[in-house]
This record gives sequence, C-alpha cells and structure tokens, in this order.
Amino acid sequence: MSETPTVYVTRKLPEVGLDRLRERYEVVVWEETLPPSKSHIREQLSALDAEGLVCLLSDDVDADVLDASPDLSVVSTFSVGYDHIDVAAAAEREVAVGHTPGVLTETTADLAWALLLSCARRTVEGHDYVEADEWEAWGPTLLTGADVHDATLGIVGLGKIGTAVARRGAGFGMDVLYTGRSRKPDREAELAEAGVDATFVDREELLADSDFVSLHVPLVADTRGYIGADELRRMSDDAILVNTSRGAVVDTDALDTALERGWISRAGLDVTDPEPLPADHPILRHAPERLVVTPHVGSASVGTRNEMSEMTAANVEAGIEGQELPHSALRDAGLE
Ligand code: DGY
Repeated sequence: MSETPTVYVTRKLPEVGLDRLRERYEVVVWEETLPPSKSHIREQLSALDAEGLVCLLSDDVDADVLDASPDLSVVSTFSVGYDHIDVAAAAEREVAVGHTPGVLTETTADLAWALLLSCARRTVEGHDYVEADEWEAWGPTLLTGADVHDATLGIVGLGKIGTAVARRGAGFGMDVLYTGRSRKPDREAELAEAGVDATFVDREELLADSDFVSLHVPLVADTRGYIGADELRRMSDDAILVNTSRGAVVDTDALDTALERGWISRAGLDVTDPEPLPADHPILRHAPERLVVTPHVGSASVGTRNEMSEMTAANVEAGIEGQELPHSALRDAGLE
C-alpha cells in the first residue's frame, strides 16, 4: 500500500493548485460539473482513507463527512466563506480547516460595484433593449436610472470586502455609512486615508439613509434573514440593494414582495437563496428591470481563482504535515 497521503478534491480547481497537490500526494478529483452528493464524498473519503479533503462552498461538510475517514487531518475549502463546514465539529475532532481570505477581497468588491452600477444605470436592460432591436431613436427619458456619484453608500459589515467596496466610493464622491456589531476605528482610518469619511450608524439608520445598501457579512445564525420585510420596508423606495455575501442573508420571499410593491427600487444579487437559483424561480420575473442576478461569481477573475487554488493547496500541505495552516478557518472562528 502506498505511503503517500491521499487528498480527495470535490471539483476540478484551477490547475495551479492541483499540480501543487499532485507533487506531494495522491490526488483524486471529482471531474463532473455538478457537485458530488454528500454520501459520495463520504464514500470516497472512507475508501481512500483520505488525509485531506478539498471542498467548495456548495459541499455540506458536517460531522458525518468529517468522520468518514479516520485519517482525515485537514479540510481545505476553495472559498473564504466556511458556513458550509461544521467548524465546531472539526475542532472537536482536531481536523484543521483552511479557507482563502484576503486574496478575493478586491475582486469581490469589483463585482459588488458591477452589480451596483448595473442596477443604477440599467445596463442589463439596455443590452436586452438593443438586442431585441427596440432601439429606434435617442430618447430623452429612455432607460433613465439613478445617479451613483454623490449618493450615500451603506455598507453592512465593514470587514475586508466591505471596506474595499466602501473605498471605491471615493471615486464617486459618495458618503459612506456602515453598520455592524461594533465601530471599527481602524477601518475608518484606512478609509479616511483613501478619502472616504465612513460613519458608523445602527442598522435602522443605515437602511433609511442609504441610496445603495451593500451586504458583506458572513452567514451565521445572527445574519440569516438579516434583510427581511421590516428591513426592506425601512429602505427608501429609490434604494438599491446589493448582495455579494451569502444568499440566505436576505429573505428571498421578502425581497420578492419588496420588488413587487416598490419598497425598494432594484436589487443586484450575486448570491441567492436557493442557490443555484432555478430559471423558473418567481423572483426572476422582476429581471432585468428590477433585478440583476449573477451566478455567485464574486471572486471569479482568472488571477484570483488561481491564487485561491494555490492557497487551498497550501492549507492542505500544512494540515497534512501537522503544521499551523496559513489560513485557518478555526483560528478565524475563534476555535483554536
Ligand atoms: C467565497 O469565497 O466565499 C466566495 O463566496 C466565492 O469565492
């Protein structure tokens, strides 16, 4: 029997990370586009006596999965978010958990802005209009939208990505409000250097006073359904909501009602609940006039995905060698 540790990988990652893993380990990759079932992951871990599991944000890594191979020493997710992993169960079993913070911050902030601008200036509608051959003349009120410059940007969760989104507001001369569990003087100072005056307010004030509300909180018990009917009703009827965090931070039915009744103007979603969002989901009847949806591509630039792949491999290596992970989700969750 081979002494080389085995790593099971639940999807084809950018080659740079897989090549790095293949240099040191037996690597078994699920080659399909659709995810393997949880039972398949368990079977593979068990059959391979795997020491490492590389997963995606769509794989549910619970205690049963963690118990599938007695040799499992590390789970490394190709994402910054780790809400799909039972980190408490991993900590209990002394299985290390790696993730990819930092590297995707700016790329995800770019995408939040792409959605914000698409919603404000109705670019998807405009494209569809041209493609449908409806563009017959320049029109004084054709596809008029909302100004972004000099508007108020509300950031929910001034972490790395929230700060990167806020920083971009400087170029548009925006006022920035932010909310979260506590004031973040360090982030405020960082933003001040970039020319952004960020003011900490409570959630209610942020919702009432922002022209654009952008969500940047992790999905935990407290943030599930953070934006529901009450919150949407508090927003201005001209406001635009952008979500690049996790779908379940927004109550989808409440958002549907908000768009239907005009409680807010538009929404741009890169993450949805359910995810993937089926093409016949009722909320899509608002698209593209009131809703723009992208398929969870916040970090999807070639460069960033390559870096994520390398980081994912580096976390596996450290876990299998019994070293401290360069990017430990357990440490970030306060579990080590
Ligand atoms: C993450 O990493 O958690 C993003 O949602 C996708 O890259």
